Amino acid sequence: MDGESMKQGLSFFVTGTDTGVGKTMVTGCLTAFLSMCGYDAVPYKPIQSGGVQGDGGLVAEDVTFYRSLHSLPYEQNTLCTYCMEPAVSPHLAARQTGTRINPGHIAQQLSTLRKKHDVVLVEGAGGLAVPIMEEKQEVYMTADLIRDLRLPLLIVTHPGLGTINHTILTVEYARACRIPILGLLVNRMPDNPSEMMQDNVRIISSLTNLPVLGMLPDITDFKPERIRERLPEIGRSLRLTLLLERLRRAEIIVSQSSQ
Ligand SMILES: Nc1ncnc2c1ncn2[C@@H]1O[C@H](COP(=O)(O)OP(=O)(O)OP(=O)(O)O)[C@@H](O)[C@H]1O
Ligand SMILES: [Mg+2]
Repeated sequence: MDGESMKQGLSFFVTGTDTGVGKTMVTGCLTAFLSMCGYDAVPYKPIQSGGVQGDGGLVAEDVTFYRSLHSLPYEQNTLCTYCMEPAVSPHLAARQTGTRINPGHIAQQLSTLRKKHDVVLVEGAGGLAVPIMEEKQEVYMTADLIRDLRLPLLIVTHPGLGTINHTILTVEYARACRIPILGLLVNRMPDNPSEMMQDNVRIISSLTNLPVLGMLPDITDFKPERIRERLPEIGRSLRLTLLLERLRRAEIIVSQSSQ
């Protein structure tokens, strides 16, 4: 535990180098671990496509996953603003379902959560260069949403083949969009990583000049109970103090750039 009291309402955006890289895993584990350390943390998924029909309507499975690792005092609607059924990019899911995504509404919902909690972790859909909506030839991208929400970024990546290219492209795109980056979080690191994996992690950090803020294990039999069992070990791999330090510094940068 960091042993220091936190200012209310810190928040950051969790993106990935690709869809399926582990944003939900990281968001869920970080929320649970921050809570174990005494911080009041909640996850927030503004836009979910690929919602699944359940008894009470569409279910945002990312929210269900967060809940399986840590109890959350909210119904799904508070933790997910737009849940759409088609499992496609948000801009297409919105068009297919006649949904009008309003970034102002997302900003409001996030602000309400930030007023009530120490840390709000915001999970994106897919990666950074993902369109959220199209209006009169204008395309509003995930990077635009992050800038409008004035959030710094945590980038989830993996240690396997292809990660150097994907990670550098994601970092460069974020920098071109002037989004401050907190660091990299490597998901699915095997217990006995190959030389290639170890070198991949070293070189993505060195080429991007970003810290690796944690490495989550590759969990065989990927089930909430297996993950919960490994949470203390996951926590030990996280550089929470550095993450929070960089988060506080980034908040100052984003608030100054928006003045
Ligand atoms: N640490 C891990 N160990 C083993 N399997 C994992 C791990 N992390 C993720 N996975 C596998 O990858 C899948 C996708 O992970 P996750 O849902 O976290 O990705 P995501 O980036 O949030 O995807 P999306 O873009 O759909 O939101 C999981 O359902 C699980 O099968
Ligand atoms: Mg997800």
